Amino acid sequence: MQRRKFIKQSSLTLAGIGVFGSLLSNNRINEINLSVNGKRIESRIFELAKFGVDEKGRGFRVAYSKGDIEGRAWFMELMKKAGLNPSIDAAGNIIGKRNGKNPSLKPIAFGSHIDMVPDGGNYDGTLGSIAALELIETLNENNFLTEHPLEVIIFGNEEGGTIGSKAMVGDITNDGLNQKSQIGLTMADGIKAIGGNPENIQSCIRKKGDIHAWVELHIEQGGILEKEKIQIGVVEGIVGIVHWEVTVEGFANHAGATQMNMRQDALLAASKFIVAVNEVITSIKGTQVGTVGKIAVQPGAYNVIPGKVQLGLEIRDLNAAKIELLFKEIEKRAAAIAASSKTKISFERQANESKPALTDKGLQQIIDSTAKSLGFTTKLMQSGAGHDSQHVADIAPSAMIFIPSVGGISHSPKEFSTATDMANGANVLLQTILKIDKL
Ligand code: GLV
Ligand code: MN
Ligand code: MN
Repeated sequence: MQRRKFIKQSSLTLAGIGVFGSLLSNNRINEINLSVNGKRIESRIFELAKFGVDEKGRGFRVAYSKGDIEGRAWFMELMKKAGLNPSIDAAGNIIGKRNGKNPSLKPIAFGSHIDMVPDGGNYDGTLGSIAALELIETLNENNFLTEHPLEVIIFGNEEGGTIGSKAMVGDITNDGLNQKSQIGLTMADGIKAIGGNPENIQSCIRKKGDIHAWVELHIEQGGILEKEKIQIGVVEGIVGIVHWEVTVEGFANHAGATQMNMRQDALLAASKFIVAVNEVITSIKGTQVGTVGKIAVQPGAYNVIPGKVQLGLEIRDLNAAKIELLFKEIEKRAAAIAASSKTKISFERQANESKPALTDKGLQQIIDSTAKSLGFTTKLMQSGAGHDSQHVADIAPSAMIFIPSVGGISHSPKEFSTATDMANGANVLLQTILKIDKL
């Protein structure tokens, strides 16, 4: 395997006392010799996991929570030590900078997010964030200066609607800022809590051309790479995501005294609706997905017929028009269910939706050839998960690198990726950035 060619990071950090270190003066170190410290990546994954654990021992580093704030402070401290001089922009994104040889060039940026879903796992977002820092430290330890300035970006609130990256590309509305985040604060108040400035949100906007290229390393979150025994996924596109709050209104009445044919049972109608969503989504070929992942029943008692049900509907696909088409079909089915059950079903489309995005073809090729030159197998694939990269793609050539998720599990405490796969991904990220730097 070609990775054997790498000089171990430790041999170089110890001021040239390693086998290869003594042979190479710093200015002769070729980028191909650089390699990340896989152990350091894994130990930091575990360290970050300690922030945001709730009283039940579950991972709860949800955006804008105490755990998120503490985890961000820990991360910024490491960024400071790495000389990145981190700052927080108006949307709460953490940005660290490293100078290049040529200050007139636009920065190459990379990073991810460190917030998580409730009861989430330790790898989603954190891998790309910790690997970005690792890349900087590897360059520091080898006194390697790139031509372009480099930026590490840790986006705020990825899991609650990719808020930080949307704001950075000017895609956040007042409605979006007023929407409630997962912990109940409005996005605006949450952004304030993490050190941003929602009143001046526009100040974080980056325009087309401001960033030379953006690359995000991430766990796959599905099971394709593991099943096909592929080490590196090259992402060709990221799905769009649209959410609707669905309200089913019936009539709450006595569950003993109301005859079956006299009922307006909102939960019964909601159940039929959930089945209909599944039927509509699977009625046509393709990789589209649709989920009802949230339900609240009122009043919620054994002896009362449910009067009102609130559901959360989500549809994802790489093709925005297909999402609209599927939703129209779901609306039709809902109208029929409402008529037959004497209920009312209404939809409220949520702000902060994500458009589908294709990654940059040139960057895909660089990642693919870089991974292959390091001896890794690769596969071109789409991302069913949403990512900040899909918004950054509006203003800069963007790309994503995936590594396998064991068992294809994500958004779960069982989420896991091996230290070897994480180091492989980080080395592909490092060498990809160095190749982009040469272009
Ligand atoms: C984010 O991880 C999402 O896909 O919802
Ligand atoms: Mn993520
Ligand atoms: Mn996620």
